[in-house]
Amino acid sequence: MTKEYTYLSGWGGAWHSEALPNALPTGQNSPQQVPYGLYAEQLSGSAFTRARHQNLRSWLYRILPSVAHSEFTAYKHEGLTLPAQGLAQPKQMRWDPLPEPQAKCDFVDGLQTMLYNGNPLEQTGAAVHLFAANISMENRYFYNSDGELLILPYEGECEIFTEFGTLSLTPTEIAVIPRGVRFQVKLLSPLLKGYICENYGLPFNLPDLGPIGSNGLANPRDFLIPTAQFEEKRGDIVLINKSNNQLWQAKMTFSPLNVVAWHGNYAPYKYDLKRFNTINTVSFDHCDPSIFTVLTSPSALSGVANVDFVIFPERWMVAEHTFRPPYFHRNIMSEYMGLITGVYDAKAQGFLPGGGSLHNCMSAHGPDAQTYQQAIKDPLKPTKLTQTLAFMFETRSPWNPTPFALNTTALQKNYQDCWKDMTISFDRNWKG
Ligand SMILES: [Fe+2]
Repeated sequence: MTKEYTYLSGWGGAWHSEALPNALPTGQNSPQQVPYGLYAEQLSGSAFTRARHQNLRSWLYRILPSVAHSEFTAYKHEGLTLPAQGLAQPKQMRWDPLPEPQAKCDFVDGLQTMLYNGNPLEQTGAAVHLFAANISMENRYFYNSDGELLILPYEGECEIFTEFGTLSLTPTEIAVIPRGVRFQVKLLSPLLKGYICENYGLPFNLPDLGPIGSNGLANPRDFLIPTAQFEEKRGDIVLINKSNNQLWQAKMTFSPLNVVAWHGNYAPYKYDLKRFNTINTVSFDHCDPSIFTVLTSPSALSGVANVDFVIFPERWMVAEHTFRPPYFHRNIMSEYMGLITGVYDAKAQGFLPGGGSLHNCMSAHGPDAQTYQQAIKDPLKPTKLTQTLAFMFETRSPWNPTPFALNTTALQKNYQDCWKDMTISFDRNWKG
């Protein structure tokens, strides 16, 4: 660090500065190899999707990525620390898949909450649940007053019988059950496992496309709405409800799926993620991951989502002279990632279907050391990423892990180690 003070002038401009000549990459953000052996890292101070004049971000070219640190532990400070609101923390976390259920359990009993934020009473925030079911719901039906349910199976198949009709569901497909809609999950396989985003906020919608135009990402015609179907079932029926994060039950003598006809614009739907029209750079560098948004639940603040559902599907990688895996970054939104199938290109190992990772607001993250070392050397031919489908639930508020998520043996003890071998290849006499 030099002892002189130097300043850039101006307010809110596109400043740039370099402490060594030509340390800033020319004409791009994320070259495959940064001058002086530096690492490229983006720091985002606004949601990627905020309007241009409100969008805040800087690219930093540094000797080590910000994620090169040990695992966070608590630091006692009696003067500064306020009582915790939930259990959100800066520690990067990753979970293995949960063990399979030993006892018989249906979709409702097989739900396990991992993360939450916001508050269903205020209709803001979301929760992440995992589910595992080995029997169908028979005389049991469910509805959720706290939010809509975005259901993503990664193993098994099912049919979701709803008041509006039936949705079949298989991995790579998603179903969204609106708040309040009654439904029942029947298995078409011995085991059904998946992820759920419970959205307490405004309903999921398609993102605006801006300069992309009228086609691209998830196209409206690919969303499927069930046709009317009803059952005339009498018997001892139990209706289960979730309200204010409590579960309730009531008895019925006739099936709640007794809607013979319906019309309107509020209904369950499904979508096959293989239909997603993926858009990305065809020249160099990266678009921000918001380019992969399938559905967005807006918040009251324009351009800032309550929760975004984002996918990383099979796609061609063609960027020239670019570090191609997801870049090192710290950002204002909080990210839970899961994997439906295959391998995620930012991590060499340790991230499995049914597992998940959490990088909360401003927690540094990026590719692991092994992936990084490979990616700065790989020949940059057009390459197709196949056999992969990862996703992200990205939220405005940091995710709180539940006590279960913090105490399960599925929480990896050594996640931070994937960055411990970040090497310093900085050379101030670098000649290019
Ligand atoms: Fe990220």
